[in-house]
Amino acid sequence: MSSVCLAPQAGKKVVVIATGGTIAGRAASAADHVGYTAGEVGVELLLAAVPDLNAWAVEAEQLAQIDSKDMDLGLWLRLHERVQHHLGRPEVTGVVVTHGTDTLEETAYFLHRTLSTDKAVVLTAAMRPASALVPDGPQNLLDAVALAGSGVLGGVVCAMAGQVWAADEVSKVHTYRTDALSAGDAGPLGWVEAGHWRAVRPVVCPVDCQPLSWPDARHWPRVELVFNHAGQDGTLVRALLAAAAADAAFRVHGLVVAGTGNGTLHHGLEDALRLAQRQGVAVCRTTRCAQGRVLGEAPDWPTSPVASPFKARIHLMLELLRTQKNPV
Ligand code: SIN
Repeated sequence: MSSVCLAPQAGKKVVVIATGGTIAGRAASAADHVGYTAGEVGVELLLAAVPDLNAWAVEAEQLAQIDSKDMDLGLWLRLHERVQHHLGRPEVTGVVVTHGTDTLEETAYFLHRTLSTDKAVVLTAAMRPASALVPDGPQNLLDAVALAGSGVLGGVVCAMAGQVWAADEVSKVHTYRTDALSAGDAGPLGWVEAGHWRAVRPVVCPVDCQPLSWPDARHWPRVELVFNHAGQDGTLVRALLAAAAADAAFRVHGLVVAGTGNGTLHHGLEDALRLAQRQGVAVCRTTRCAQGRVLGEAPDWPTSPVASPFKARIHLMLELLRTQKNPV
């Protein structure tokens, strides 16, 4: 397996869009890796902490400063607009998005499904705050800029701890370790090693990329997520339907159900989901297992083509947006 040296392209630049996260986090003590506040350090300071970035032409934009647990559709839409804007500039080879690890897989999938580009969009993050004794963010940021600036790949990827992941495959799998991301059976797309890119396989961009004329966030379909588990009697689904009946603002358009094992559902949950279907709610099934996908058909319960429940939720939102003129 050969590797390619990651080098800047003459006259070209990388745009870094910062959204917050632990990579921009600050704690009172350098030894503290958990009691910090995410989204505190500005993008200019993050860049200044990495002297090797001087080799690259970098432009910075502070789009948000949040803990990614608070990510929402409104910010996704603004991020999408800014990324697409910069990708359209001929002097920009690629865009880096700094993000929290907690919902990185969702933002990556959203951008993967909605951005139309053959340039690189590299999401990166960190597990230790910028104030840590040995923070992981600076190296991750350098790797991400090098990937985005060298033209070695196109499409949306996530780079962290020297590993590069496909946006539609990556998940956060560890609460603490610096190599917190994984794509399970699929493995990484490749590795960044000492400024070189060692690729295993190419990025696959979606054929059904969906750049839409979007409504604002308030008018997107609401898709909720429910899990099957012991004692799951469907109360949550019935409560959602009751809330929607009481106030149209809570109307739910779709439900992603993360079944047990190969997508199996408790009888009580099945009854509640049938009720939801009769009321026009789109129900889509996947699995709560971290690995594998639902195999075989169940006529009443369409299977999501996307195994991760969190990504399946975004997939269903986009499907509903595509197929319904005005879902609200
Ligand atoms: C966040 O997701 O914003 C906090 C956690 C992290 O970045 O690791």
